[in-house]
Amino acid sequence: MDTINRRSFLETGLGVTAGGLLLPALAMPTEASGDLGAYGHFVAQSTPPVPNPAANRLRDIAIPAAQAPANFVLTETNILGPYHRQNAPFRGKITPPLEPGNVLLIRGRVWAQDTRRTLPNVVLDIWQANAQGRYDNDDPQAPPAANLFVHRARLMTDEAGYYEYETIHPGPYQIGPRAWRPSHIHYWVRHTNYRPLITQLYFRGDLHQREDQFIRPSLIIDLREVRVGQGAYKVGAFDIVLSPR
Ligand SMILES: [Fe+2]
Repeated sequence: MDTINRRSFLETGLGVTAGGLLLPALAMPTEASGDLGAYGHFVAQSTPPVPNPAANRLRDIAIPAAQAPANFVLTETNILGPYHRQNAPFRGKITPPLEPGNVLLIRGRVWAQDTRRTLPNVVLDIWQANAQGRYDNDDPQAPPAANLFVHRARLMTDEAGYYEYETIHPGPYQIGPRAWRPSHIHYWVRHTNYRPLITQLYFRGDLHQREDQFIRPSLIIDLREVRVGQGAYKVGAFDIVLSPR
């Protein structure tokens, strides 16, 4: 099945139309079951949770020297740019289903410069261009619907200060006769007790980086390819260090 046929198959099968999602005509409510089966037995037999010292260590994560950011230098700021939108939904996948592009998995930890520990409950506001270098709001003649966010999401660091999201490799875009923005992903990082950070991450080896005045070398990450069957995706890490208010 080639790409086009596969795509139309998926769209038909999922009930995707140009106007949005439609349930198939004969759709019935998903059947619910009150029978927990083996899980019910497990619930009945289980005892109240016992504090787990290992879990506490994870939550209050000690700093393995080899993995902590070097000298806890603050993550550099970078321009906000004109394309941020407020109130993107919370989700772990930045792009819509079936989005064309090379899949990336970006992950990292958010660190506190003062305590040298990771920070849970940090909100990361992420936005980027699609594979062709276009934002969902870069055409003033065709603004996006207020409740539709494409290539945007917010997420929150977990109890160990980790975050992770899936996306596609953003495309570069031209902003002047000889000026380009190389591929990048925007971040707006917020925590109650720490200074907000507006920055961007970049990818090593992007030729357009020579034509960009905004890029900072400390914000460039490496990508590593992970092969899965006949396909592949790339993984990159981007740790962040925040300063207290
Ligand atoms: Fe941008």
